[in-house]
Amino acid sequence: AGLGVLAACGAPTTRLVTPTAPVVGVVERARLHTGRTVTSQLSATPGRVDLGGPVVDTWSFGTVPGPTIRARAGDRLVVDLSNGLPTPTTVHWHGIALRNDMDGVPDMTQAPVAPNTSFRYDFTVPDPGTYFFHPHVGVQLDRGLYGVLVVDDPAEPGAYDHEWVVVLDDWIDGTGRTPDQVLASLRAATGSGMGATGGMGGMGMGGGGMGGESMTSPLLGGAGDIAYPYYLVNGRVPAAPVTLTGRPGQRVRVRLVNAASDTAFRVAVGGHQLSLTHADGFPVVPVTGDAVLLGMGERVDVMLNLGDGAFPLVASAEGKQGQGMAVVRTSTGPVPTPQVRPEELDGRVLTVADLTPAEPAAMPVGRVDRTHDVVLGGSMSGYEWTINGRTFDHERPLDVRQGERVRLRLKNATMMFHPMHLHGHTFAVVDAAGRPGVRKDTVIVAQMRTVTVDLDATNPGQWMTHCHNAYHGEAGMMTTLSYR
Ligand code: C2O
Ligand code: CU
Repeated sequence: AGLGVLAACGAPTTRLVTPTAPVVGVVERARLHTGRTVTSQLSATPGRVDLGGPVVDTWSFGTVPGPTIRARAGDRLVVDLSNGLPTPTTVHWHGIALRNDMDGVPDMTQAPVAPNTSFRYDFTVPDPGTYFFHPHVGVQLDRGLYGVLVVDDPAEPGAYDHEWVVVLDDWIDGTGRTPDQVLASLRAATGSGMGATGGMGGMGMGGGGMGGESMTSPLLGGAGDIAYPYYLVNGRVPAAPVTLTGRPGQRVRVRLVNAASDTAFRVAVGGHQLSLTHADGFPVVPVTGDAVLLGMGERVDVMLNLGDGAFPLVASAEGKQGQGMAVVRTSTGPVPTPQVRPEELDGRVLTVADLTPAEPAAMPVGRVDRTHDVVLGGSMSGYEWTINGRTFDHERPLDVRQGERVRLRLKNATMMFHPMHLHGHTFAVVDAAGRPGVRKDTVIVAQMRTVTVDLDATNPGQWMTHCHNAYHGEAGMMTTLSYR
């Protein structure tokens, strides 16, 4: 039983319709259009979900993860969202450079979708890659409302035998508290003792009521605010893992997505090395390691050369106790135990610092027209996270002009890491030599560090940039990039 592999062959909810009328976009960029339309339905509903033992009452798109939607670069995607939740919702298409009015930000790019109503998302997907989607209302993401969007590259040879979509999550529902209640308790628990440059990362508040964690990561500094009872791989706890199957010697492309709200994961496959080929959808110069670090909202594609046996794919909660697991099986052999810790997890861990863009994804070196500082802070009282000293800083957006090369200096003045995400664009992470490097839409800014990113302002609109820790974002660590 269980969800099994989210297979490459397309989700049952996705079907193709051709030919189609051209998209009439208000602000749609000039883009490649294939003339194909992919349609899909999403219904956000309350319901019971079996995590492979624990059965939880939660909100989902029917399953956890939700359906995988597949399209090709240049396709028009038409997705009808129906809201069966008791509260308003939206869907945000994380990482897609889409038209602004389809971006799913409530009260900024669209009216929130009221209960018992629906909304049609209709946009072109310009770039191939691994993406995901989730509501942009409150901490609904942490209920389990997410799914993967794969955009295939028609020009890609596909030099692999299998493709596995592997989604990581931290899970609070089923503990008697909803994510909203957890957020409320975080706010109530932190009335004192926090400085803008310290404290928050070490609070160890244990939002689920479970404390006693170390709450630090050697790579990131702080590890998160919440000790989750479960960590999931493709919606399953480690005691009832999904099985990913192949044959010895085959090559597999693994699309890894961190859909968690408060947890970075270190991912490894026992007995295997990983060759990282794509970061946030865009190709990189392939680099080999033993494990990879993935912040919330980040995706990587890795290649595996399958060995002979049954191997644990482990997603270890970085700086926390606990892990998620799937089983990679190519022949007989016992199922790895849920606590197994492959030695690869402590080998060479790939991070953004190891990545350089493959030629087609490289941003040309160019003059920076405008620089904005984006200072990430925590306030002295309450559970508040700020950008440039303010929460929800939409009234004073980061102004840009169409066509500019814009530099953002993401300065972390806290003891917690923040995976910073930008809507509607990808940016180049500026390397040590000051050159635009790997292309991403979400980048980890470790405690007390600065990460500089450059972007080309070519997609007009109002675009959020925020911490992809769902609780930090909802506590104010959000601002807007605004075209004039
Ligand atoms: Cu996946 Cu604004 O976020
Ligand atoms: Cu954050």
